Amino acid sequence: MNILLTGGAGYIGSHAAVVLTEAGHEVVLLDNFSNSNKSVLKRIRKILGRSLPCIEADVRDTDIVERVLREYKIGAVIHFAGLKAVGESVANPISYYANNVQGSINLFQVMQKVGIKTLVFSSSATVYGEPKYLPFDEDHPKNPMNPYGRSKLQVEEILRDLADSDSEWKIACLRYFNPVGAHESGLIGEDPNGIPNNLMPYVAKAASGELPHLNIFGDDYETCDGTGERDYIHVMDLAEGHMAAISYLKNHAGFTCVNLGTGKPLSVMDLLNAFEKVIGKNLKKVVVQRRSGDLPCYYASVEQASIQLNGSAFRSIEIACRDIWKFQKADNFQ
Ligand code: NAD
Ligand code: WQD
Repeated sequence: MNILLTGGAGYIGSHAAVVLTEAGHEVVLLDNFSNSNKSVLKRIRKILGRSLPCIEADVRDTDIVERVLREYKIGAVIHFAGLKAVGESVANPISYYANNVQGSINLFQVMQKVGIKTLVFSSSATVYGEPKYLPFDEDHPKNPMNPYGRSKLQVEEILRDLADSDSEWKIACLRYFNPVGAHESGLIGEDPNGIPNNLMPYVAKAASGELPHLNIFGDDYETCDGTGERDYIHVMDLAEGHMAAISYLKNHAGFTCVNLGTGKPLSVMDLLNAFEKVIGKNLKKVVVQRRSGDLPCYYASVEQASIQLNGSAFRSIEIACRDIWKFQKADNFQ
C-alpha cells in the first residue's frame, strides 16, 4: 500500500518508514523539518538502499497535502506530525493547539475530500493523566495534565466523532508510552535540539561527555527504588506496531485506541544500570528535586495490543541502550 507519513522525518516516523518499506509498502514522507534534520533522508537511504520521496511542507498546507495524496495514490496516512514538548506546551499552548489540533483537522478534511479514510494517529499515554489504577488500560479515565496532552485527547475525540459520522473511516489511535532506542544500524535515532527533556537521550549525551552529568529527578517516590518508573518501549517495536495497525485496519472499520508499551515498569535506576552495563562505565549522576508535573509511576496494559495488533514488544532495555549508544557515537550529521 502507498502510505503517507506526516512528520516522517522525525524520531518515530523515520523508524516506521524503514519498517514499512522493508515490509513492502511504498512510503512517502511529508515534514516541515521543524524538529528534524534533512540528513535523516540520506541515512534512511543508507539503511534501505534506496531513497524515499519526501515533501517539505507543513501539514496545515491543505493544497500541498491534497496534491501529495492524489499524486502518490495514497491509501493510508500515519499522522506523526506534531509538537511534543510538555514544558513548551505550557509556555506556548496556542502553537500546540495550532500544530497538533488544527494541523490534524486540516489533514482529516483533505483526506475526506480525496476519499482516503484509513488513518493511524500518534497519540500518547499522557492522555490518561494521574493513574486511578495501574496498568493503564485503554478505558482508564482521561485527564491530561498539560496542553500537549489535551491536544492529543482532543484529536482522539475528533477522530471518534469522525468515525461515528461515516462508517467508511478506519482509524487507530496508538497511545505510545516512553519510546527509546534507535535503529540497530545506529544510523537513525533520537536527536533532540538543545538539551534533551527525556531521560534516554539525556543519558546518552551524559555518557558521551556532551553533558556533564545526569540529574535524577527525585529518589523519594513510592516506587521500587524511589526513582520514577515508566514503560520504555523500543522505537523499533513501536514502528512495528504501526505496521500491525495498518494490517488490522484493512479488515476493521471504525475507531480504536491501543496502548503501545511493554507492560513492564522500569525505574530511572534500572535504565541507568542497563546503560552503564552496555557502555562498561559508571555515569556521573546527581539526585535533584522532583520535576514539577512528574508522576511516580505509570505503565501500559498491553492486552489490547496483543489482541488487535498481535503485539509483543520484545526488545529489551539493554538492546535499546546498545542501539542509542551506537547512534550517539556515530558521525551521522556530517
Ligand atoms: P519528532 O519531533 O521527532 O517528530 C515529529 C516530526 O513532525 C518532526 O520531524 C517535525 O519536523 C514534524 N512536524 C511537526 N509539526 C509539523 C507540521 N505542522 N507539519 C509538518 N511536519 C511537522 O517526534 P516523535 O518523537 O517522532 O513523535 C512523533 C509523534 O508521536 C508526535 O505526534 C508525538 O506527539 C507523538 N508521541 C511521541 C512520544 C515520544 O516520547 N517521542 C510519545 C507519545 C507520542
Ligand atoms: C522519564 C523518567 C523523570 C529526565 C514524557 C512526556 C510524555 C511522553 C514521553 C510524548 C521520569 C526521569 C528524566 C532526566 C530524570 N511524550 N528523568 N532525569 O516524563 O515519562 O514522559 O515523554 O507524548 O508525554 O511527558 O519521560 O523521559 O522525560 O522521564 O530523572 O534528565 O525519567 O523524572 O521519572 P516522561 P521522561
